[in-house]
Amino acid sequence: MMDALLEVRDLTVTLRSGSGEVTALDQLSFNVNRGEVLGLVGESGAGKSLTGAAIVDLLVPPLKRTGGRISLGGERLDGLSEEALASIRGKRVGYIFQDPLTSLNPVLTVGYQLAETIAIHTGMDRAAARQRALEWISRVGISDPERRYAQYPHHFSGGMRQRLVIALALCGEPDLVIADEPTTALDVSVQAHILTLLKRLHEETGTAIILITHDLGVIAKMADRTGVLYAGRLVEIGPTSQVLLAPRHPYTQGLMRATPDHRSTTARLSPIRGSMPGLGRAPSGCPFRTRCDHAEADCAATRPELVLHGLSDAACHHPLGLGVAT
Ligand SMILES: Nc1ncnc2c1ncn2[C@@H]1O[C@H](COP(=O)(O)OP(=O)(O)OP(=O)(O)O)[C@@H](O)[C@H]1O
Ligand SMILES: [Mg+2]
Repeated sequence: MMDALLEVRDLTVTLRSGSGEVTALDQLSFNVNRGEVLGLVGESGAGKSLTGAAIVDLLVPPLKRTGGRISLGGERLDGLSEEALASIRGKRVGYIFQDPLTSLNPVLTVGYQLAETIAIHTGMDRAAARQRALEWISRVGISDPERRYAQYPHHFSGGMRQRLVIALALCGEPDLVIADEPTTALDVSVQAHILTLLKRLHEETGTAIILITHDLGVIAKMADRTGVLYAGRLVEIGPTSQVLLAPRHPYTQGLMRATPDHRSTTARLSPIRGSMPGLGRAPSGCPFRTRCDHAEADCAATRPELVLHGLSDAACHHPLGLGVAT
């Protein structure tokens, strides 16, 4: 058995609007094992960021978690007080956002921010926390840490800021880091360096990572397992090589076929027809059926649940590669 660090069961998030409630995340269930990288992919609006935010209750109205259980290391996170959650965020779960300026305070020096985080989450005294902060500045590849310690976020380039955010997320020695599009806002030339840094620190610290991205290339490079989200549902999850090279769900196959530079096939690029339904507009049964070439009557009649097919779980009545659909 894998050693589950994070267990998410039937996670449901609703959005309240003037015209009523719509389901934004629909009964998501998945695990993150200790020390692994779980990739989450899907088109824009699929629910990737909401999933990350819901785990540590960063949702703000009109979004609300309305169902499900979340445990970290066997301890329930849902239902904890805001105070208890605040201590879990940072100490046990670090967060890396797309925009580094979300995490960095513009009016405090970066050294102060790191040392403060270290002191709070590890209990070190001031002098030790300062020393550790200097180490983290070097560790994320920023030279001259003594000078850099005393500078403010605006003194750093976008790539350097994201390095600091990674240091901030990891310096409290969390069990899990949630990284939401950590490189999307950066220049292409900087993206690969940041991913390499994240991977190296992951290997050195053993921190598990939920890596949220729309980029299958990033997934292929970084993730041990991958989950695919579509219209607020988890439609496939399994070992990354299986999910990318032998997808069971037609949506995953469609994503692969719409992505340039993947090595599984020489087929030319073909976007998935149609577009993902907006919030509250998913059709009955399988949410993907209106765009799916394999859909049959049962796909409209009943909602497919995640079922293990070989090495991956897929929520599909007619999974690919099993001789039942072509
Ligand atoms: N604060 C909000 N108010 C209203 N709708 C929201 C809010 N936040 C997210 N949504 C909606 O919830 C759905 C899922 O959003 P989410 O941000 O999780 O998508 P995503 O998969 O992260 O997309 P992207 O790749 O664009 O970041 C989308 O339809 C989005 O418009
Ligand atoms: Mg997002």
